[in-house]
Amino acid sequence: MFEKDTLSVLGDGNNTYEDAVSPPIFQTSTFGGGYEYSYTRLSNPTRSLLERALAKLESSSYAFAFSSGLGAVNTVFSMLKNGDRVLLSDDLYGGTYRLAMNIFSKYGIEFEFIDMSKSENVRQRIDVKTRMVFAESPTNPMMKVAPIAEIAEICKEKGVIFAIDNTFLTPYFQNPIKLGADIVIHSATKFLSGHHDTVAGAVITDNEEIADTIRFISMTLGNALSPFDSWLTLRGLRTLPMRMEKHQENAFAVAEFLKTRKEVRSVIYPGLLEHSGHELMKTQSSGFGGVVSFTVEDVDIAKKLILGGKIIKFAESLGGFRSLITYPLTQTHASIPKEIRERIGITDKLLRLSVGLENKKDIIEDLAFMLDGD
Ligand SMILES: Cc1ncc(COP(=O)(O)O)c(C=O)c1O
Repeated sequence: MFEKDTLSVLGDGNNTYEDAVSPPIFQTSTFGGGYEYSYTRLSNPTRSLLERALAKLESSSYAFAFSSGLGAVNTVFSMLKNGDRVLLSDDLYGGTYRLAMNIFSKYGIEFEFIDMSKSENVRQRIDVKTRMVFAESPTNPMMKVAPIAEIAEICKEKGVIFAIDNTFLTPYFQNPIKLGADIVIHSATKFLSGHHDTVAGAVITDNEEIADTIRFISMTLGNALSPFDSWLTLRGLRTLPMRMEKHQENAFAVAEFLKTRKEVRSVIYPGLLEHSGHELMKTQSSGFGGVVSFTVEDVDIAKKLILGGKIIKFAESLGGFRSLITYPLTQTHASIPKEIRERIGITDKLLRLSVGLENKKDIIEDLAFMLDGD
């Protein structure tokens, strides 16, 4: 098996289309002749190249690409039926919360949000109705780390599906399926495509039965990724390893810088020794990623930061080439009820910075400029 940087470059290593080094985009809705492909909602050669590359990177046999990260989560939730219970991380992307509570709970599926940083919490809350455990690790935006192997063990013992949203670390830094998870989900909009030009998602599994179910749901819901967006995501994937290394190097520098500033109350980056999940993460991931959350002393400082700087842009999303600053309270986590937000720490003093690929000295100068500006 090749190393991950080689796998990212080669994709599935099996592009035989006229021996083109960059594969063609099969921009067709339908196919004649009874070959492998029949209709693009079901499958498409460009999408298959991306799916095979993603499966390899996650050390798995099956991958499915979707029209967004939430499209991927929607597909995984669609495996559930009336009466099922799901345990989710109490701190997770607001859109996943909204999908669970505003759509799937209407169909009689129960969702409970728990702190997954301790596997004991999962063991205590699993009951006979629990069908799925869904975790982010690290979580968005509070960067809590879940003990993946321990939770996987509990889920296996209880016959429960364990799904992990691996968006923040990507397969370059973390392979949850190798640690025992059943399903990996990605918002490929983020680091995987990496260029702020695509919205995409993925579901990956090594379990044939789950793969058959996901394939059926995708075909039925009609939410698979278009050929062009598959091609863009595949193109992004080629440079994933080097981008992740640089995102991480810059994130470390930014985290250390923020620690020196009196306006900053706390810096939440799992690469920092003092982060509560640091030691655990070293055992299950080969890196800490490129997202740094932090709290400031007062709301006026937060307001200054969200004006943006010369480099850092105030915008939703993460994982692209450009440094983006996000205000979870009004953006990514606006759908989460106030009492839950406050309990988990999403306050008016919290910011999330997706550290981009610019020079780290320039990013830090920009942050200093934003903090100093009146
Ligand atoms: C951790 C996580 N999962 C899923 C999603 C949803 O992805 P998309 O915006 O591609 O639908 C996001 C989006 O921010 C995210 O941060």
